[in-house]
This record gives sequence, C-alpha cells and structure tokens, in this order.
Amino acid sequence: MIMDHTDLITTLKVKADQFNDFWIKYFPDGEPASLFEATKHLPSGGGKRLRPVLALLSCESISQNCYDVLPFAAALELVHNFSLVHDDIMDNSTLRRNLPTVHVKYGEPTAILAGDYLFAKAFEAMHDLNVDLDLYKNLNHGLIECILAICEGQQLDMIFEHRATITETEYMDMIKKKTAVLFSLASYGGAEIAGADTTMVTAMKNYGIYLGLAFQIWDDYLDLSSDEQTLGKDIGNDIRNGKKTLIAVNALQIATGTQKTLLQQTFGNPNATELDIHQVFSLFKDLKSIEYARKTAMNFNTKAKQCLGLLPETNTKQLLYHLTDYAIQRVT
Ligand code: IPE
Ligand code: IPE
Ligand code: MG
Ligand code: MG
Ligand code: MG
Repeated sequence: MIMDHTDLITTLKVKADQFNDFWIKYFPDGEPASLFEATKHLPSGGGKRLRPVLALLSCESISQNCYDVLPFAAALELVHNFSLVHDDIMDNSTLRRNLPTVHVKYGEPTAILAGDYLFAKAFEAMHDLNVDLDLYKNLNHGLIECILAICEGQQLDMIFEHRATITETEYMDMIKKKTAVLFSLASYGGAEIAGADTTMVTAMKNYGIYLGLAFQIWDDYLDLSSDEQTLGKDIGNDIRNGKKTLIAVNALQIATGTQKTLLQQTFGNPNATELDIHQVFSLFKDLKSIEYARKTAMNFNTKAKQCLGLLPETNTKQLLYHLTDYAIQRVT
C-alpha cells in the first residue's frame, strides 16, 4: 500500500488516542491536590505522544500481539514528560502544549516535585509490564541508561550556553543524549517486546537514533521559525538562552564583521526583542545555516529509512518510513 501524509497523520492520531486511553490510569486524584494537579498538568495537556506511538508501531511491525507494549510506552512518555517539566525550568520557558508551563502555574518547587513524581511513575508503569523476567530487566536497564543520558545531555546543553563556540560533533553528542536515546529506546524496546532477533533490535536501535537526531534539529528550527500559537511553546527562546543549536553552531563558524557583532549582541541576551530574534533568523538564512541544518536532518532521515530494510513488508513499516519525513516536516 502506498501511504500519503494524511494516512500517516490519521494513524498517528489513532495510535495516540489508543495510548491516551491506556495511560490515564497513572494520573489518579490524590492529596496534596496541588501536587497531583501539577503532575497531570502537562500529561493531560496534549502532546504528540510520538515516543509511545513509535514503540507501538515498532512492535506491530514485527508481531501481531502487542498489548504488552502499552506499559512500556507509558514509561517512555512519563520519562519524556518528566524531562519536559524540568527542561522548562532550566530553559525559562513559559508555554508548552499551549498551556502555561508547570513551574509558571504551580511554582518551581512544586514543578520539581511533579517532575520527580512523573519519573517514579515511569517505573510504576514498567512494573506493570507482563513480559518474562529477562526482557523486563533488559528494558528496565534500557530505561535507566536512557534517563542517565538525558541528564548528561541536558547538562551539556546548559554548559554549551556559556561557551562561545562548540563543534558539530559536540552538538551531535549532546542531542543524541538529550533526545535521540529515548526515541531509540522506544524503537528497539518495541522490537524486543515483539520478539525480534538481535540484528533486528540493533537496526531499530539505530533507526531511533537517526530519527531522534533529525527530530531535535527540526525542533531547533521550529523554535526560530514558528509562531507561539502553532507551536504551543515560546518562540526565540533558544537565541535568548544562547543555545548552541546546529543552526547557531554553523552560523558562529562562518559569520564575520557586523554579522558576528549581531550574533554576539543577541545570542544569550534574555531581553532580546522579537525584532532582534527576527534579525538573527534572517542572518541564519543569509549564511545558509538553516539550509545546512535542514540538509543534515535529511541525511539522518535517509539513514533512518535504511535501517528499516530488514522489517517485513507491511503497512506499519510504511508508517515507520514516513514517520522520518514527518519528524522534519512537522509544524508542531
Ligand atoms: C519536545 O518533544 C522535546 C524535544 C525532545 C524536542 P515533543 O515535540 O515530542 O513534545 P510533545 O510531547 O509533542 O509535547
Ligand atoms: C529537548 O530540548 C529537551 C529534552 C530532552 C527535555 P528543548 O529544550 O529544545 O525542548 P523544547 O523545545 O523545550 O521542547
Ligand atoms: Mg532544553
Ligand atoms: Mg526547552
Ligand atoms: Mg526546542
């Protein structure tokens, strides 16, 4: 079957809804009410649910019996949401999923706890997995490794804010840790639950890494190019925070004279205006740094597609194939 963009979006929505029906049980009401409300503020606020959907699709591309993947998918989305709550504190972000961020609504101390609660809930979800002990231990180990990598990647992301320049290799290492490893776990974990052999699991591990790298490069682009209402997040924050995105890394390498002065004045300036951000965006375009990042993301995209070669020819394989395009074409 040839799949078009509308088929993909429809299926992603169906899968996300299927997942939402399942994971709601991890958000009961309780006391103190402020903590329970803060904990579910972001999870109930929407989101694409890409990591759980990826785990479902990866499993379904290999096996027809994928009910067991749901608690694993929940653990992934819980870790993702935990990392977002803390990321918004670190990045000083005020808007996510078109809602005020958790720390803006409930205060920083409660947001830290809400993040911790989501973190612990991820292991509650893992505990609900109905798979044999060896597989459980393997997936649990994968999740722990992933959280450690996210913490390392997030710390690097902040350290890089204060460095004048970083290399492209350093950028790739940082986004692999903060973003791609979770996509990778979703992808290979789904395959392991489906009973895939080692070769297939490795291929899906690599698929997730390439998909995640492309996804983060595009996320950095959207931070500059989108508008608040469409993206549901603050715009231009990466510039105000001095984030070394691939676009910025490239521009900092090639800018000279007045271009360099503009970058130095605006980059890392928390008071940069919308006009300042717009000027930097125009400069990035002139320097062809946007084009460079887009091409790099497309190369990862091609590599992700190549990893799918071993999968049986099914509609689900097509979905995984087109998901790589979605990662670098999405508007939100
Ligand atoms: C945002 O992830 C954080 C990144 C790793 C770039 P998503 O874009 O998947 O966020 P939601 O879950 O859809 O809100
Ligand atoms: C992804 O990077 C952060 C996480 C791994 C949580 P960003 O900081 O760019 O994510 P957004 O743009 O705030 O969603
Ligand atoms: Mg961040
Ligand atoms: Mg952020
Ligand atoms: Mg971002």
